[in-house]
Amino acid sequence: MVKVTFLGHAAVLVEGSQTTLVIDPFLSDNPMATIGPEAISPDLVVLTHAHGDHWGDTLALAQKGALVVSTYEIAVYAEKHGAKAFPMNIGGRYEFAGGWLKFYPAWHSSSFPDGSYGGMPMGVVIEIDGKKLYHAGDTAYFSDMKLIGDEGLDLAIVPIGDTFTMGPDDALKALELLRPKQVLPIHYNTFPPIKQDGEAFVARAAQMGVGGKALKPGEYLEL
Ligand code: NI
Ligand code: MN
Repeated sequence: MVKVTFLGHAAVLVEGSQTTLVIDPFLSDNPMATIGPEAISPDLVVLTHAHGDHWGDTLALAQKGALVVSTYEIAVYAEKHGAKAFPMNIGGRYEFAGGWLKFYPAWHSSSFPDGSYGGMPMGVVIEIDGKKLYHAGDTAYFSDMKLIGDEGLDLAIVPIGDTFTMGPDDALKALELLRPKQVLPIHYNTFPPIKQDGEAFVARAAQMGVGGKALKPGEYLEL
């Protein structure tokens, strides 16, 4: 059983039998988060890009022993700030106990809050304990999502907030290409410009035959 907990905004905790990963751990400054970085001890921090609402509490978690896995640019930046990091890029695969992860492109931008360049923005496919999930990061809808769907996804975690990423209509088109068993909408309702109805989105996804739930921060689903 893989436990996937929504921590608010784009932050997701993935717990397998041997490895715990957190993706985009924006917690302390996240108005929707119900826990802070002190509440989790992941083995890996996986970052889709460098924006502050994704980088978040990465350094606090690295101080507790987590390894930062992301682009070359983000890894170098993390190491400069005292973290242990593993530099990668789009197309690369990283093996961990019980699974692997692979980075895919995302259509977005990527700079740190201080203006440093973060490399290419990415999405990530994770196989853990035999289950496959995809965290799209921040992205527009793009046709190569079909290639990501070819991985065979148990869960697609997609932004629906609009303004900075795809909105609900494009996220539904993305589901046609991703063909996941379940969807978890993220990156909405954290701030006024990304206000959306998550329940309405999952209801429309269900009409397409895609299961899933609009989790509230702190809630989880099992794969
Ligand atoms: Ni972003
Ligand atoms: Mn974002």
